Order: sequence, then structure tokens, then C-alpha cells
Amino acid sequence: MSEKILIVEDELNLRKLLSLLLSEQQYQVVEASNSEEAIAIIKQQHIDLILLDNRLPKMSGLEALKIIKAINPDIYVILMTAYASVDTAVEALKLGAYDYIVKPFDLDELKALIHRTLEFSQAQKNGISLVPQIELANSDNKEHILTNSLNMMELCRNIAKVSQTNTTVLITGESGTGKELVAKTIHYYSTRSTGPFIKINCGALPETLLESTLFGHEKGAFTGAYQRQIGVFERAHLGTLFLDEVGEMSTNLQVKLLRVIQEKEFEPLGGNKLIKSDFRLITATNRNLQNLVEAGKFRQDLFYRLNVMCLNLPPLRERQNDIMLLARYFANQFCHEQNKALLDFSIDAVEALNQYSWPGNIRELANAIEYSVIMSNGLFIYAKDLPAQINANRDIPNLTVNFNDADSPSTTLKDKVKNYEKELIINALKNHNGHRETTANALGVSKRTLLYKMQEYKIFEKIN
Ligand SMILES: Nc1ncnc2c1ncn2[C@@H]1O[C@H](COP(=O)(O)OP(=O)(O)OP(=O)(O)O)[C@@H](O)[C@H]1O
Ligand SMILES: [Mg+2]
Repeated sequence: MSEKILIVEDELNLRKLLSLLLSEQQYQVVEASNSEEAIAIIKQQHIDLILLDNRLPKMSGLEALKIIKAINPDIYVILMTAYASVDTAVEALKLGAYDYIVKPFDLDELKALIHRTLEFSQAQKNGISLVPQIELANSDNKEHILTNSLNMMELCRNIAKVSQTNTTVLITGESGTGKELVAKTIHYYSTRSTGPFIKINCGALPETLLESTLFGHEKGAFTGAYQRQIGVFERAHLGTLFLDEVGEMSTNLQVKLLRVIQEKEFEPLGGNKLIKSDFRLITATNRNLQNLVEAGKFRQDLFYRLNVMCLNLPPLRERQNDIMLLARYFANQFCHEQNKALLDFSIDAVEALNQYSWPGNIRELANAIEYSVIMSNGLFIYAKDLPAQINANRDIPNLTVNFNDADSPSTTLKDKVKNYEKELIINALKNHNGHRETTANALGVSKRTLLYKMQEYKIFEKIN
């Protein structure tokens, strides 16, 4: 059955037009002229998607959005805003809207957006990803956000959107999940991309040094201030300032930072001239700021200022689809750097990588792959080539092979080809749950040939 769309729009003509347009697209359409009606409808019937006007009589679209999401968090909502109000858009995304569209809009654009949204919703229900991989290229084109996981794709969409604004962004996530990469991506995607991107690690500098780094100082401002130094607040003018590990900042400096954010101007140490600076602030932390606020270690008012838009990076163990994608990406990169022919992963290595919990996230994965590229001396990276912690506590793989000869240094080309063939067959068998007919088809050989090769290479199946 076709998807059901609820149109919430007080302007009769527009509502009828949208209703006609979407009925023509074979969607089921329900209409409401205000928020209250819309809320009543979603309580009574199943709705897949809501096209929600923001300017409605009495209760605004944003307010309705809060209630709608509380009643049914699974409904996809697209907010229609009358003017390009970035604040409303960001607020809508924060409240759980899937997307927004600015009025007046092109009907084809709306059709495409609805189509994309419903496709995404379907994919999410089925637990599969539609787009094989999203790449947000930085300006230097060296670093990418690679992903094949739905939770990260959602985040990438928000990255793309938030970069078009000047909003302060807080990036949270465990160590090594890509916080800095996200901060850079926002910068390079924004209109400030030609301006500076300046990163300061608040946890790495003692308080006084951090203060003079941020604010700058005049000559003679304190012992050792031999010359004037420009602070990063000033250097980041027209660009982006990335304050990493902001949770480590002392409460004394927190007050001062808050003032700069509020007033957009500051005084260098030992100076009496106010300096204006226009920078976009991005902060990151791997600590739970809310907990720090409750413990009295982080100022609540500053937290609110920083947390205008929060992007939370999921740990690698919650992005199972990304493990091999990233592993292959890093293998490619390190093989290139080390002048090695591109290595593939053996089946036992794939299993080991997928089963490991990755407490150090993507950074740990990158290090593990670099290590294994150095350790490997064949065509494949085997589990034994990976750092020890990745093999510890691992389940025994249920498909085994007699590797007695596979591991011996294969000198001749013939031996290498044989090992490669064996590995390909094991991989294919595994991918097809040991089903010989489909495995043979996938490899483009007859079932007889496959059975013959399995005997030759002593491949024993233990598939339950
Ligand atoms: N999705 C991704 N695709 C490709 N590379 C990634 C991705 N996420 C992170 N990386 C890479 O992993 C490494 C660690 O990322 P990054 O330094 O951004 O993490 P972090 O969260 O800032 O870590 P920490 O909390 O330790 O400072 C970097 O080399 C980064 O380029
Ligand atoms: Mg970092």
C-alpha cells in the first residue's frame, strides 16, 4: 500500500495544491489546517510523513513538532518555513524533523525531497543502507568521512546542513570517533572555508597559557611577555575556531569564554583596547558535559551556549557496516604509503575485525591496519597479522581450513596463485553460507570444479 502523507497547512489554496500534487504521485493524502487537528489525526491513524507548515494559527509548527515526536518518534516530518530562517531550520532538526524546505519552493524539489525521505524511512525500517557510502570531501581532498551506516548518514546530513549556517556546534563522542574530522568538514563546507580553521586543545595547555593563547597579550602583560602576541580569537576572524576537549577548561576561563561568545569582542591580556572578531565556534568533548554541569564543574550557561546544535558521533562498535569499509580504506592508504601491492583481508581477519569492540574507535582501527600491513608478507592480511588484542577473546570461526601449507612462505608464483585461489574459495563459501551451488555460480565455475578444488585445498566446512 502506498505511504500516507499528512499535510498541515492553514492556507487553503496551497494545501489543496499540495494535496493534488501528492495524490497524483499515488500517495494517500490527509489534510489538516492547524496543529491541533494534525495532532488529533496522528493519534488516530498511521501516518508515514508529515509536511508541516511552521506558521500556523495558535500553535506553531515547531511546537507541534515537539508534541508529534513525543507521541510518535517514528513519523518523518518535513518542516515548511516561510522565510530562510536558519534558526528555525536548526531548531527543527534538533527537535527531530527529518528536513525542512523554504517557501516559496519548487514543486519538483518538494516531490524529490518527499521521495528521498520515504526511501530513507523504508531503508531504516529494513535496517539497510541505500547509499553505499557518503563522502564529504574536505578542501584538501585528503580526508573523508566514509560511512556505510545509517546512523552516520543521518549525521552527515546534519553536518552538510549545519555547515551552511553560523551556528555554534558541539561535537560529542568517544575518543577516536572522528570529532576533529567532523569539525574540519563543517568548516570546509561552510562559506568560511577560505578563512582559517584553528584548533586549540583545551586539555593540553595549563590555564594561564591557554588564556594567553586564546586572548593574546600585549608586550609586558606578564613576566615573559616579551612581545605582543595575537590570540586565536583574533586569528580565527572570518574562519572557524575549534576548541577541542572543552570539558577540561577551568571554570575561570569558562566565564571569560562565555563573555566572548556573547559579546563577540574581547580584550587581550594587558591591553585596554576591545577587539572585535567574527569567528564560528565549534567545540568537542569526549566527556559528558551534562554530568559535568550537574557536578558543578562546567557552567550551565556556557553549556547552553555551546550546545546550540549537538552532533553525537556513535562509537565504531555501533557502526558495524563501517568496520570493513574503513579497514579497506586504511589498508589501501597504508599499502600505498609502504609501497606494497594492495592487500585483501582473509576471512579470519574479517571475522576478528568485526568481532572486536574497538574501544579506541577509528583511530585504533587505523593503527591496527597500519600494523598489519607492516606484518603481512603475502597477498592477504590474516588474523595473525593483526595486533594481539584484536584476537583475544575471539570466537572460533566455524569454517576452517588446513592452513599447514598456506602459511609457509610461498616462493613460486604457482604457490602464490594457489593460495590466492584457496582464499577466494573460502571467502566465497563463507559469503554463501557454505552453499556449494551458489558459491560455484558466484565464482563462475561448475559445482564439480568447486568440489574438486575444495578437496585439493583441504577445505573442510563446519557450517551449522
Ligand atoms: N568516518 C571516517 N572516515 C574516515 N576516516 C575517519 C572517519 N572518522 C575518523 N576518521 C579518522 O580517524 C582518525 C581519528 O579521528 P579524529 O581525530 O577526528 O577523532 P577524535 O574524535 O577527534 O579523537 P580524540 O577524542 O581522540 O581527539 C583521524 O585520522 C580521522 O581522519
Ligand atoms: Mg580529537
